[in-house]
Amino acid sequence: MKSTKENSCDISAKISCCSIEDDSPKKDLKVHWDRAYEKATVDKLGWYEDFPKPSLQLIEKCYFDSNARLLNVGVGATNLIDELLKKGYKNIIASDISKKAIDELKTRLEEKSKKVEWIVDDLMNSNELNKIESVDLWHDRAVLHFFNNQEEQDKYFSLLKKLVKQNGFVIIAVFNLNGAEKCSGLPVFRYNEKMLSEKLGSEFSLMENFNFTYTMPSGDKREYIYTLFQRVKVMIKEQSRVHSIFF
Ligand SMILES: C[S@@+](CC[C@H](N)C(=O)[O-])C[C@H]1O[C@@H](n2cnc3c(N)ncnc32)[C@H](O)[C@@H]1O
Repeated sequence: MKSTKENSCDISAKISCCSIEDDSPKKDLKVHWDRAYEKATVDKLGWYEDFPKPSLQLIEKCYFDSNARLLNVGVGATNLIDELLKKGYKNIIASDISKKAIDELKTRLEEKSKKVEWIVDDLMNSNELNKIESVDLWHDRAVLHFFNNQEEQDKYFSLLKKLVKQNGFVIIAVFNLNGAEKCSGLPVFRYNEKMLSEKLGSEFSLMENFNFTYTMPSGDKREYIYTLFQRVKVMIKEQSRVHSIFF
C-alpha cells in the first residue's frame, strides 16, 4: 500500500501510523486499543509483522525447554504466538488490554488457541497478571514505549520484576532514540539499551541488544531497539543491609 498523508505514519496525518488518531486517548486506553483493532485488519496495522524474526532470534538464545512459561504482554494479534506454538512451547501466556485483539488472535489460531492461556488485563492496573505464577520469559514488542511518565514506567517494571523468575529472561523491543515520537495517535517514550538497563536495575544483565528497522505495511520505516536481559542476581536482605549475589 502506498503511503499517503492520510494513512502514513506522519504524525500530522489525520490517520496516523498505527491506524487511528485520537485527541484524548489516555481517557480510555481499552477503548482506544479495541478501536485500533476494529478499524483495520491485522495485516494493515502499523506494527504488523508477517514473521517476527528478531523476537524469535532472541527467544532462541534463551534455550527454553518446551515447558517454559512464556509471557507475551501487549500481545495484540501477533504472529509470534503462532510461531511459538509451531515450535512446541506448551505454556504460552498471551495478555493484552484489548479483548478485541485477543479475540482476533484466538479466532486465527482456531483449535490451537486452547493451548494458550489468555489474559485480558491492563499493565497499568493489573488485576489478573499480578496473580499468575512466575514466568521464564517476559516478551514485549511495542508496548512499554506507550508508558510516558515515571509512574507508568514504575508500574510496568514492578510488575515485570514481580513475575520474572530467577534466571528468567526479558525481551523488550521498543522505539529507539531515532524512532517516531508517536504511534497509534499516542506519544511514545523512546529508549536505548542503557536506559532499559537502568530501569531493570542490577538484578538484570543485558545479554544482547541491536537496533532494527521495521518496515510498516505502508512502507514507512520505524526504528526499534531489541534487548535481551537475564535475571542473574538475587538480592538478599540481611540485618537490614542488602547484599547481592551472582549465580
Ligand atoms: C503497537 S501494539 C503491539 C502489539 C504486539 N506486541 C505486536 O508486536 O504486534 C501495542 C499493544 O499493546 C497493548 N497495550 C497498550 N497499552 C496496554 C496496557 N496498558 N496494558 C496491556 N496492553 C496494552 C495494545 O492493546 C496493543 O495490542
